[in-house]
Amino acid sequence: MAIRGEHEVTEAVLRELERAADPRFREIMSAAVRHLHAFVREAKLTEAEFQQVCAIVAALGQATTPSHNEVVLAAGSLGISSLVCLLNNRGFEGQGTTANLLGPFWRMNSPRTENRSSIVRSPTPGEPIFVTARVVDDHGEPVAGAEVDVWHASPAGLYENQDAAQADMNLRGKFVTDEEGTIRFRSVKPAGYPIPVDGPVGALLRAQGRHNMRPAHLHFLIFKPGYKTQFSQVYSSDDPHLDTDVQFGVTETLIARYERHGEEPVPYGEPSDTWSALECRFAIEPGVAKLPRPPITGKVR
Ligand SMILES: [Fe+2]
Repeated sequence: MAIRGEHEVTEAVLRELERAADPRFREIMSAAVRHLHAFVREAKLTEAEFQQVCAIVAALGQATTPSHNEVVLAAGSLGISSLVCLLNNRGFEGQGTTANLLGPFWRMNSPRTENRSSIVRSPTPGEPIFVTARVVDDHGEPVAGAEVDVWHASPAGLYENQDAAQADMNLRGKFVTDEEGTIRFRSVKPAGYPIPVDGPVGALLRAQGRHNMRPAHLHFLIFKPGYKTQFSQVYSSDDPHLDTDVQFGVTETLIARYERHGEEPVPYGEPSDTWSALECRFAIEPGVAKLPRPPITGKVR
């Protein structure tokens, strides 16, 4: 039937969607159509503005390469990634979830590393840190034998995959939790870092008067058959960008404090005048263990 005016367009599209065989697809697309049409009505989008929107969406795709995903960056910068994470990981017993964003730099097959070892694999100046991370289940009981991937940026704010000066897999390691559900490792304190602003996301941030920094953090990926695989990030409590993370990743549950030590000897490894200790805890829930598709496969040459 021909459409007689703007008031009939939404219904016409929704009627056509009823042909879709997959009920979940129908549900998602119907909601998308209703909300997109409502958005156009509320914003009273002009034709020129609509063309601009189409150009931005196209530019997001054009700026995406095998080693960079501008679409994911845009979703993070609008809080959508964080919203999806928090809707799908509710946490336990009134405590917020310890799940967080996977981020763009997880690599498959990071080196198996013994507990109480270092993940500094090439000279990386910075404050030594000693991290203790505990994995528990939804009853607070320790989970032994879980694989825990760890990765983070250097004290200069660069991941090894972005920095030819760092050894392959520097500041990355795969640990296994002991009987107490614990892993322990040594590294150097990471710095916060900027997200790239040479594409459409940069224009979006500039238009809003926002900076492009992520606060310093450590990444974790926890894998054990029988449990939902958890991605997490632990944020440094002393970072100046904690309240304005450009990716809206910081949750209260995941802010941790580095305890500075000066007098005592380091817990293990090479001696150092000063060092910091950090403790964190992750609660995982029963579910399907599934590794994500690695967002990147190698490092810069
Ligand atoms: Fe990161």
